[in-house]
Amino acid sequence: MMDKQSAVSDEKMIAKLSPAEIYDRFFVPTFFRRFTDFVLEAGKVEKGQHVLDVGCGTGALSIAAAERVLPDGSVSGLDPNEEMLDVARNSDQPINWYDGSAVDIPFEAQTFDSVISQFAIMYVDDKPKALREMIRVLKPGGRLAILVPGTIDRSPGFSVAAELLHRLFGEEAAEGMRAPFQSGNPQYLREVCDAAGLHHAEIFTVTGAGRFDTPEDFMKVEGSCAWSLGGLLNEEQLDLLYEEANTAFRPFQNNDGSVTIDTPCLIIQATTG
Ligand SMILES: C[S@@+](CC[C@H](N)C(=O)[O-])C[C@H]1O[C@@H](n2cnc3c(N)ncnc32)[C@H](O)[C@@H]1O
Repeated sequence: MMDKQSAVSDEKMIAKLSPAEIYDRFFVPTFFRRFTDFVLEAGKVEKGQHVLDVGCGTGALSIAAAERVLPDGSVSGLDPNEEMLDVARNSDQPINWYDGSAVDIPFEAQTFDSVISQFAIMYVDDKPKALREMIRVLKPGGRLAILVPGTIDRSPGFSVAAELLHRLFGEEAAEGMRAPFQSGNPQYLREVCDAAGLHHAEIFTVTGAGRFDTPEDFMKVEGSCAWSLGGLLNEEQLDLLYEEANTAFRPFQNNDGSVTIDTPCLIIQATTG
């Protein structure tokens, strides 16, 4: 079987993939799949439950949930990006995939035992509305668990990436790296919860880690995605970034040459009354 991570250097193969396929093939195993257990635990996702994954992308969290709840339960994945959903539909799990936004969830009230989400709510403009929607579709006594990355200053690997981008290409490129981390402040999330009427929500930190075969691979995963660095930098700039990555991420290297990027995240956890 092809090693998904090391194949990040196969540029001809990458050129044939859509951004969502690149995300699924390279980002999910190195990063996103490594956080699913935190969310499933916080959401108390168990055998037989009916679960909704909001901002499911290509389905990393939905698939992990399906492994727990099927065959008696069900999993629905919701995302506004059709290209991500097309990749999700290739999963062999019998998950129901829906095109839609967190701010207008296309389900009746009190449908699910658990509503879960990872690395998605930070992209939603009206976060209190999204939280109200997620609570609306939960049954009484149902569980909500939402994970977002903590602020970038708490993640040295991503901070170094932003500094490197700033040094090489300026503020816009650095901002592109920092943007997904901007919601990860407990006080800000508390305000979002209060605005959604979720005064009893708990907010706590978990620390997961991305793992990439080489320092270069860490940046290649970002650089190969059109909505990440791939959309901001040209080929020449990306080559320079990959070269400089070898020095910049040396402090994060393990004995086998791989890099581990610790990433503290915040979880919002609540139970409906
Ligand atoms: C970084 S991906 C995370 C996907 C998935 N949860 C995972 O762990 O791989 C962010 C996802 O948030 C989705 N997203 C953006 N805006 C959204 C919205 N308003 N409602 C729901 N999902 C949204 C994007 O389409 C994308 O699939």
